[in-house]
Formats: sequence, C-alpha cells, structure tokens
Amino acid sequence: MIPQQNMQDLSSKKVPDWLVRPPTHLGIIMDGNGRWAQRRHLPRVAGHRQGAQAVRRTVTACRSWGIRYLTLYAFSWENWKRSRIEVDALMHLLEDYLDREESLMIEQSIRFRAIGDRTRLPRSVSRRLEDVERSTGDGRAMNLTLALSYSGREEVLEAARRMAFDAMAGKVDPAQMTQEDFGRYLASAVLPPPDLLIRTSGEFRISNFLLWQIAYTELYFTAVLWPDFGDEDLKQALMDFQERQRRFGAESGSPEPTSRTTGA
Ligand code: FPP
Repeated sequence: MIPQQNMQDLSSKKVPDWLVRPPTHLGIIMDGNGRWAQRRHLPRVAGHRQGAQAVRRTVTACRSWGIRYLTLYAFSWENWKRSRIEVDALMHLLEDYLDREESLMIEQSIRFRAIGDRTRLPRSVSRRLEDVERSTGDGRAMNLTLALSYSGREEVLEAARRMAFDAMAGKVDPAQMTQEDFGRYLASAVLPPPDLLIRTSGEFRISNFLLWQIAYTELYFTAVLWPDFGDEDLKQALMDFQERQRRFGAESGSPEPTSRTTGA
C-alpha cells in the first residue's frame, strides 16, 4: 500500500526548471539527529525518528528531480559503539522504513541497495535488505543505496583482500592493475563516483564515507541538522553544485581522470 501523502508528493512534482545540471550521483552524510533531539530535550531516538522522515522527503525529492543515484550514510561501522538502546532503535527504524517504503520504491521504479558489513546486522534486518534489493531489482528511474554498518577503509581493505586472492590464484597480475581494475573489487563498484557530497549539521568531516570514490567529488557542508533538512536545503545544495567548475585537475570541462593520470 502506497501512503497517500507520498503519492501526492510525487504526482505534484516534476524536474524543476532551475535544475539544469543535476549531479548523477548524490551522496549525503546525514548528521545532527542527536543534537536536534537534545535541543528539544528529547531522547536521541526522537532525532533519528525525525531523521527517517527527512530520508523519506529527500528520496521523494531526488526521485522527482531526476537524480539517478542517491547514497545515504545511515549507519557507520563506528556507530556500533553507541548504546544498545540507540543501536536497537536505529535498526528498528530501518526495518520500519523498508516495510513502509518497499511498495513505493517498486511503484516509482527505485532500485534499492545496501553497502556495508551485513554480518554485523541483526538477521531480521539483513533478511529485509535482501528482500527489498530483490523486489526493487528492476527499478530503473533511480538507485537508492544505504550505507549500513559501512566503513570506507573496510571497503577498500576488503577489495584489496579479494584482489590479493585473485592474484594468488593467478587470475590477475598486480603489476598491471589499474585504478579501474581495482575499483571493480569495491562493493560500491555498481555506482558511479559521487558528483556531490552533502554533509549536514555543520561538521566538516568525511567520517570514513566512500573514501575511494570521492577523490573528485564536490563537497557541500550545511549547518542545517539532518531532521530539519528539507527540499529548500536540497535545492540550495544543488544550485551551489551547478555553479562549480569541475576540472578534475586538468583544464575546465575535463572528465574525471582515469588510471595513471593525476589531478588536483
Ligand atoms: C547521525 O546523527 C545520524 C545517524 C548516526 C543515523 C542516521 C539515521 C537516520 C537518518 C534515520 C534512520 C535511517 C533510515 C534510512 C530510515 P547523530 O546521531 O550522530 O547526531 P549528533 O552528531 O547530533 O549526535
């Protein structure tokens, strides 16, 4: 059953005139849920609940504004250090999100994926992730990826491990390895590199997110706390991105550098 509210949101929106150069891939570090709750003297979990609403708004806006890839940092490898209560609440919110949004994703042709270490997730969550990945697998309009139990360093390390095993088996020659060859071992190899990365809540950090992939990504930081992040904030970030000159270390208009080239 598709929630009526979401149906209305989607039917009333279309690619806006101001969006002439959307990023193909937008990544978001959703930060500030705890502070949002703290400022209202509420438990941290209330901030996450409100953050889940911001996820719904953002997915809806990106889908209707024609952004092909959206990757959200929902739970880092380091977040396992948080209290049991908070971790359980986040896992519950995630399952609830998948339950509520699955039919809408299918309806809206959104392909869902998760990246990160699933072995640490509760069995019920990893099973739901697999279900929704399967049921939305034909989606072509937008790719929604949640980074869960995710660490950029772990992703690179795991890729290096897999490459080393292939080298030991004689399947690849490490001396001939290019960046593209290595990139194919990453869990996120199915995604293009992000064009724009937004971080909310006024922090200026990458926090172990897509480390390999963001080499030439444009960064955008906003003081808005994630639960308050709305369509206008997203619009501001996208407008800002449109003004950026992407040079990838070469002259303007150059594509992203490939193996054995460098840039700054
Ligand atoms: C960072 O804020 C946010 C998280 C660790 C979790 C993000 C989770 C959600 C947005 C909701 C659930 C997700 C889905 C996909 C339904 P913080 O808690 O570190 O905030 P703080 O820095 O202010 O303490």
